[in-house]
Amino acid sequence: MVSSVSDSPFMGNATSGMYKNRAALKWVALASSIIIGFSSVLYTNSVVEELKEREEFYISLYAKTLEYTVNSESDNLAFIYQEIVTPNNSIPMIVVNYEGVPTMYRNVKLDSSKLDQQEIQQVLNKELKIMEQEYEPIVISSEISDKVEDIYYIYYRNSDLIYRLRYYPYVQLSVIAAFVFFGYVAFSYSRRAEQNQVWAGLAKETAHQLGTPLSSLMAWLEIMKSDDDIKDKEVVHELEKDVDKLEMITSRFSSIGSVPVLTDQNISKLIRETLSYLEKRVSKKIEIHFNCKDDLLTADINKPLFDWVIENLSKNAIDAMSGEGKLTIMLKEGKYGDALIDVTDTGKGIASGKLKEVFRPGFTTKKRGWGLGLTLAKRIIEHYHNGKIFVKESAIDKGTTFRIILKK
Ligand SMILES: Nc1ncnc2c1ncn2[C@@H]1O[C@H](COP(=O)(O)OP(=O)(O)OP(=O)(O)O)[C@@H](O)[C@H]1O
Ligand SMILES: [Mg+2]
Repeated sequence: MVSSVSDSPFMGNATSGMYKNRAALKWVALASSIIIGFSSVLYTNSVVEELKEREEFYISLYAKTLEYTVNSESDNLAFIYQEIVTPNNSIPMIVVNYEGVPTMYRNVKLDSSKLDQQEIQQVLNKELKIMEQEYEPIVISSEISDKVEDIYYIYYRNSDLIYRLRYYPYVQLSVIAAFVFFGYVAFSYSRRAEQNQVWAGLAKETAHQLGTPLSSLMAWLEIMKSDDDIKDKEVVHELEKDVDKLEMITSRFSSIGSVPVLTDQNISKLIRETLSYLEKRVSKKIEIHFNCKDDLLTADINKPLFDWVIENLSKNAIDAMSGEGKLTIMLKEGKYGDALIDVTDTGKGIASGKLKEVFRPGFTTKKRGWGLGLTLAKRIIEHYHNGKIFVKESAIDKGTTFRIILKK
């Protein structure tokens, strides 16, 4: 944007402050979600550990009961069996005899009504392999006899509940992450749609408001030009130039406020026009070069908007050189028939961390800048022309090259 329109040097600072705040806010949100995620995982893990301990305790109690059953012939057995053995309906366990053959099992998922004996054994053996890896079996030996035949082993593993609980925080976190992600996408989409509406609406309204005084100015100018007394005076020529400039501004605003019409245009011609306009207005210490490698290159372009982009990039380049240097615009055909336009200066350069940030609305390092020139350029090139604009290279105190790519 023309820097002279900025009357308030505070405006740019206020908006760049807003962007810093937003970046800080993002970090805070990220950090707090990581903390929440971690604590949720840690908390569930501690619950799981406690449950596991309880299950292990329960199993050892169970083993002791079995041991007691083997060793005793008391009447309390029925009670023990009913009260301790039967209520275990969550921990999978298999009792194996000295030959490794399962003699009893509980809570192992198998449908005994549908499987024959051999298949049941297969399922049990498979389950045994899993259990072996989880816990050492509990050995039950008989006090009455020391025959190997009377030794039993209890294999067990954690209940399914514990497995499910262990994965629960991850499932929970993924669901929350997915929710946040889709929420964010929807939110930023709607915010962008709103921004677009404001941009376009304001631009259209400005063009509309400028239209009335402009047409009356043009009428006055015609009257002056037809008056023999003043038609050759300098004031008329100067007025005409300003009216032309106003007309150009109006057409830029009206183009960006509506769906711009693209027509096949000779690119080198457009660039030459903008440069010759600029040349008259910049200090003689700034050299301006147009390195045109293809005079016939064309692309679908909206003229007022494209001129605006070249003007903005050139003005930024001139600002970066603070009074002295060389501005080169290069035009050539790319590999895929697209048009490549490089705007290169020998100015102060852009820090590598800021290469993307310069396109953000409100980002400026100038006292009287709005930080809108590049935002506008990006919008015009990418939104309206389906092209690309980016910083091709930049080195501090050496210079910067911005590249525009216009598709064939
Ligand atoms: N060629 C360049 N060399 C070095 N820095 C640049 C160059 N072009 C842009 N910048 C940096 O990017 C910032 C944003 O540029 P942009 O054109 O968007 O806004 P501005 O020039 O500051 O204000 P205005 O809205 O008036 O154009 C500039 O303030 C400057 O710091
Ligand atoms: Mg600018």
